[in-house]
Amino acid sequence: MPFLMLLANCAGPQSTFDASGREASAIENLILLTAVSAAFIWLVVVLLLVYAARARREPLSEEQAQRFITWGGVITPTAVLFALLSYAVWSMPATRPWFDRQDADVAIEVTGEQFWWRIRYLDALGAVVFETANDLKLPVDRRVRILLKAHDVIHSFWIPALAGKMDMIPGRTNTLWLEPTRIGSFRGPCAEFCGTSHALMNLSADVLPWEDFEAWRQSRVQMRATRKTAGNAFLVHGCAGCHSLDGTEARGLVGPNLTGLRERKRLGAGAMANTPENLARFIRDPSSIKPGAQMPAFPMIPQDDLRKIVDYLAGEP
Ligand code: CUA
Repeated sequence: MPFLMLLANCAGPQSTFDASGREASAIENLILLTAVSAAFIWLVVVLLLVYAARARREPLSEEQAQRFITWGGVITPTAVLFALLSYAVWSMPATRPWFDRQDADVAIEVTGEQFWWRIRYLDALGAVVFETANDLKLPVDRRVRILLKAHDVIHSFWIPALAGKMDMIPGRTNTLWLEPTRIGSFRGPCAEFCGTSHALMNLSADVLPWEDFEAWRQSRVQMRATRKTAGNAFLVHGCAGCHSLDGTEARGLVGPNLTGLRERKRLGAGAMANTPENLARFIRDPSSIKPGAQMPAFPMIPQDDLRKIVDYLAGEP
């Protein structure tokens, strides 16, 4: 029964054993092959041990013993390890596609921040088209190039169902390629301890059909182009000092870009469900939800104004 429970945990939006991307499939195959091979070798060794303990037979002659050691101790392990190494090396191009470098269909830059993900969609020349946070949208069956950066400390980017893990290091840009092969919602935890709220730093990744992805991208570009005005309470209480709302005078760059916040499933990089009540709680005292969060508490905002800010962000597309 416990074994079945273990198997049940192999599925889900954050599982290496539920591969939904080209790179993740290569990794999954490698894990399965090495695990099954190791289990088989273990079984053979155990059977030999049992046999050796029980069999009543004459001691081997010196020549027989030598042959046994040569085959069992040198040739077989070398052949098995060489075969496994060959497979691992052969599967590397799938996880590190600098071998078959083709142009990316989509280029994205993701920066690790304490404790959230700054996401920028880039054009073909690498210029930023728009910025968002914590919610990654990807097209299915397309090559995606993700530039990984860090603003403060080392974080690590890892969506187990889609691709391998890669560190985000301050002062350095790492490049991860991935190609989702299945439509769905996936989850990526920060995989390098980065401070008190490391465990509350989760990325959500939605894989969409190409047309839906394009439609979403267009709608985001339009949000930037349509000139609106940020909610008055939002400006009066200084939210715009840190946060941007595309197309408005709110252009703060310190915190997450809040454009399209109402579309996001969760708040605070996965910390809680995206509801007006949770949003109000977060604005009042972020550290009570995410210890060590850079955003200060706002106990001084009158309840009426807080309600206005929440209504504005919940209604703002
Ligand atoms: Cu970011 Cu751990």
